[in-house]
Amino acid sequence: MRQERVVDLSNFNNTLTVSVIGAGYVGLTLAAILSNAGIKTYAVDVDKNKIGVIKKGKSYFFEPGLDEFIKKGIKSEKLIPTTNYKTAIQNSDTAFICVGTPSNFDGSVNLDFVFKSVKSILENVKSDLIVVQKSTVPVGTGERIKKMIDEYDNKEINIDLISSPEFLREGSAVFDTIFPDRIIVGGNNKKSVKKVIALYEKIDNFAKNIKHNNFMEYAFLYSNKKRSKNLAPFFERVIETDLESAELIKVTANSFLALKISFANSVSRLCAQNKAKTADVMDGIGSDHRIGKSFLTPGLGYGGGCFPKDVAGMINYANSYNFSFNILDEAVKINETQVYFAISKIKKLLGENLRNKKAALLGLSYKPGTSDVRKSQSSRLLRKILDRGMIVSVYDPQAINEAKKKISHKNLTYIDNIKDVFRKSDIIILATEWNEFVDFDYSKITKDMNSLNFFDGRGVINEDKIKELGFNFIGF
Ligand code: UGA
Repeated sequence: MRQERVVDLSNFNNTLTVSVIGAGYVGLTLAAILSNAGIKTYAVDVDKNKIGVIKKGKSYFFEPGLDEFIKKGIKSEKLIPTTNYKTAIQNSDTAFICVGTPSNFDGSVNLDFVFKSVKSILENVKSDLIVVQKSTVPVGTGERIKKMIDEYDNKEINIDLISSPEFLREGSAVFDTIFPDRIIVGGNNKKSVKKVIALYEKIDNFAKNIKHNNFMEYAFLYSNKKRSKNLAPFFERVIETDLESAELIKVTANSFLALKISFANSVSRLCAQNKAKTADVMDGIGSDHRIGKSFLTPGLGYGGGCFPKDVAGMINYANSYNFSFNILDEAVKINETQVYFAISKIKKLLGENLRNKKAALLGLSYKPGTSDVRKSQSSRLLRKILDRGMIVSVYDPQAINEAKKKISHKNLTYIDNIKDVFRKSDIIILATEWNEFVDFDYSKITKDMNSLNFFDGRGVINEDKIKELGFNFIGF
């Protein structure tokens, strides 16, 4: 949607100060970038340990490039990590809510942290404030927050609510925050909507002057750099809408992407019945600009803290209106059974009985560029092959520590150097597509292996080249 350049900054407070509540992937990245764009930003979190780490100029989780922005923000004193709501809110004219919204057991979304944040804001607010809700929430949450605000007793103060969902991806959070392909701003008060757009425009101005030095290269490691060059001008990427549409855009986008992945994975099962190559089929259909190539790579399926939760939330939301979103139920089923399809492929290489067969497993995180193992299909595959009696050595460049907290088994060895993971193994299973695994020179380790089998669970290995080394190969 094309927007006029109409932001009126005349009565916009130039000494703008922002609070970002919740210092997770979304909040900490936003706070770090805002502070680098010259805006005084409080990064507020209730967790003293997390704030303690951020104060030292680094993140407590792995996200390429983020530490440099935190370090610069702290040094310039524009980034202020704190557990103190009072100082943060009383000094701010805008507060972003970026807290977690985990799933309840029935798939519904747990909004406790969102409502607690709103309560803390209302307990501390002393002057006009725009509250920008960025956490991923079901439709109608904004109306519930507005009710809380309406019930707040100090009528002298104007508190406006805006919904502005976040679309950043873990592993390329810095890139996505600096170069968003759309900016959704939903709310009823036009003036507040414009103010929030003006705030995002400050990030865009910062983006225009950014120097592509080494740390930026690092931050963009898992992103498509070309995209930043092809992005439409800022105001063409802004979509102004109402609260409920903004809320629905977010979960609908994630559900649709999950659907695309499960569609590609269904085609891969069909291709297993004939000689067609799924990658070629997907390339062929993706070349149609109406379809597009992204999120059609067949493989182990999706995981992480977002897709599984948001698809479940969307199904649950539809059910609450007695509407069955069957197409999404099916997408979930395909994703859940994709690891069994992967095991059937591993059996094609090793035979029906996997007991005591030795695997070198590459990757544990749910995707490259992150240490996050939440709902990771790679970690699920690890559990399933251990259940079938395989002996597994596993290496991941970032996720070993996270995985160790969750999976231990007598037949499992965590390895901290890729070169040592292949020893005496019968098969290499590539489960997460880290660059390190794609670029690795496998000719160097063939002599270490018991037998040369390679299962590519992510469609990233050049089949001809790996076969030239003597490997039996199977992919999706
Ligand atoms: C996703 C969305 O892409 C973001 O836009 C959104 O902001 C975020 O959720 C969120 O709701 O916070 P993220 O979970 O970080 O981001 O990761 P993606 O890069 O989207 O990947 C999700 C999963 O899909 C991964 O497990 C990945 O391996 C898998 N995937 C992706 C495939 O299996 N096949 C593909 O072709 C692409």
